[in-house]
Amino acid sequence: MAQGASISLERVAVRLGGVEIVSGIDLEVAPGEFVALLGPSGCGKSTLLNGIAGFTPAAAGRVRVGDRPVTGPGIDRGVVFQSSEALFPWLTVRENVEYGARIRGVKARERARLAAEHLRMVGLSAAADKFPGELSGGMRQRAQIARVLANEPAVILMDEPFGALDAQTREVLQREVDRLWRETGATILFVTHDIAEAVLLADRVVTMTTGPRARIKTVAPIDLAHPRDLEQPGAVALVRLLRDDIAAEVNRALVAQGLVLATERADAAA
Ligand SMILES: Nc1ncnc2c1ncn2[C@@H]1O[C@H](COP(=O)(O)OP(=O)(O)OP(=O)(O)O)[C@@H](O)[C@H]1O
Ligand SMILES: [Mg+2]
Repeated sequence: MAQGASISLERVAVRLGGVEIVSGIDLEVAPGEFVALLGPSGCGKSTLLNGIAGFTPAAAGRVRVGDRPVTGPGIDRGVVFQSSEALFPWLTVRENVEYGARIRGVKARERARLAAEHLRMVGLSAAADKFPGELSGGMRQRAQIARVLANEPAVILMDEPFGALDAQTREVLQREVDRLWRETGATILFVTHDIAEAVLLADRVVTMTTGPRARIKTVAPIDLAHPRDLEQPGAVALVRLLRDDIAAEVNRALVAQGLVLATERADAAA
C-alpha cells in the first residue's frame, strides 16, 4: 500500500456553470491524516471533493496531492461515492475490484491476488462472484471501498459513503473504515452530514459556510483517544459545538433567502 500523501489547497476556487461554488479554500491535510468535511446541504462539499479528485479541476488557486499539482483524475486518488451505482452492474464484485488493475495492464494472476486481498480486507470474499444488484447496500459500499483500496491510492476521498445506509450498517462500516485507515496509512478526506460520524473518525473536522463562494468556516482538531466513545464529555461537547456551528450557517442562509421570520431572526441573533 502506498503511504498517505498530503493534500494541499491554496486559495482554491471551483466553478460550476459559471458560478463560483467554493472560493478561497486553504487547507493542508497531512500524510495519513483523516479529515472530515461538514457543512450545510448544497454548500459545495462534493464540489470541493470533485476538485481534489480532478473531476472538476480548480478554476483558481492550487490543488496539490503529495508534490504533484492536480490537473485531472489520477490513480493516486480513490473516490468512494454515496451511491452504490458507482459500481459497474455488469461486472461481478471481483471484476469491479480488479477493474483499476486491468486498466493499468496488471497481469491476471496479480489482479486476482489484489482482488482477493482487498475483498478479504472488507469481509466480502464470499460475495466475490455476485453482481452488485445481488448485494445489500452495505455490501455494495464495502465493494466500492475494496475497489478503491485495490488501486493502493495515497489519498481516499469519500463523499457521504454511508449516507444511504441504515444506522446499524453505518456503525459497522464506520468501524471498518477506522480499521482500514490504520492498516493502509492512506490520507482520508471524508464528507458527511453526520456530525457524530465526523467526531468518531476524524483527526480534524472542517466545516464550510453556505455557498455560493463557500469558504472554510471552522477547523476543529479532535484530540480524543481511539476507539472513541461518543458519550464521553469531550465528544459530547464537540458534537454540540459543531452542530451549533452548522446550524448558525444554515440559519444565515435561510435569513438571506427571506425564509426565516423576523422573530426567528431575533432568536437566531440572540
Ligand atoms: N452545473 C451547475 N451549475 C451551477 N451550480 C451548480 C451546478 N451543479 C451544482 N450546482 C450547485 O452547486 C452547489 C454545491 O453543490 P454540492 O453538490 O457540491 O453541495 P454539497 O455540499 O455536496 O451538498 P449535499 O450536502 O446536499 O451533498 C449547490 O448549491 C448546487 O446547486
Ligand atoms: Mg454532496
